Amino acid sequence: MTDQATDAERDMEPEIPGKPTSASRTTLSHIMTHNDTNLLGTVHGGVIMKLVDDAAGAVAGRHSGGPAVTASMDEMAFLEPVRVGDLVHVKAQVNWTGRTSMEVGVRVLAERWNESAPATQVGSAYLVFAAVDADGKPRRVPAVVPETDRDRRRYQEAQIRRTHRLARRRAIRELRERRAAEGFED
Ligand SMILES: CC(C)(COP(=O)(O)OP(=O)(O)OC[C@H]1O[C@@H](n2cnc3c(N)ncnc32)[C@H](O)[C@@H]1OP(=O)(O)O)[C@@H](O)C(=O)NCCC(=O)NCCS
Repeated sequence: MTDQATDAERDMEPEIPGKPTSASRTTLSHIMTHNDTNLLGTVHGGVIMKLVDDAAGAVAGRHSGGPAVTASMDEMAFLEPVRVGDLVHVKAQVNWTGRTSMEVGVRVLAERWNESAPATQVGSAYLVFAAVDADGKPRRVPAVVPETDRDRRRYQEAQIRRTHRLARRRAIRELRERRAAEGFED
């Protein structure tokens, strides 16, 4: 990860109008079938992760107005098993925006497909998407404009996660550089 744009280049960039959170918020719903199970008979975590990535990708594309790629996925939590016959709802929204990247927060809910009991939360995840141009190079995104107190809380929490992600990457890069300088080839 490099900080490619200089301050002078950033000053020359035209302003992009911000977009409210609600403009790209999306829900993807899917009924789980026997094709989705693991060896225990419950739904495979990878199936849920695919739905999470799909929903988050739709949100990132809508918010940024073009293609966006998954840069990272973290804090995927599986809270309850998902079963065959569950109707799964994957709710995603942009929590935070940087210059070319967006954090998308996702909540996964499940309810029996043929019962009227309320859906329960079975998972959550945070993903970072980078908006890219036709050459796959990062491009600027509109700033997200949080609209509710919950959106504002999510924005602030996403900033904390962003700080930690950058610090962790920097620390690991520095450690590897130090080890390489000491002659380790691992
Ligand atoms: C994501 C990608 C476009 C970043 O390109 P890059 O040359 O490293 O560009 P930058 O360093 O300028 O990063 C672009 C933005 O993404 C963010 N970013 C890049 N890698 C990241 C990571 N691992 N975690 C979180 N954010 C990341 C940067 O912080 C930057 O955000 P900002 O502009 O808001 O500050 C590039 O690594 C890529 O194409 N990866 C493959 C993506 C893909 O194919 N995903 C699907 C997997 S099958």
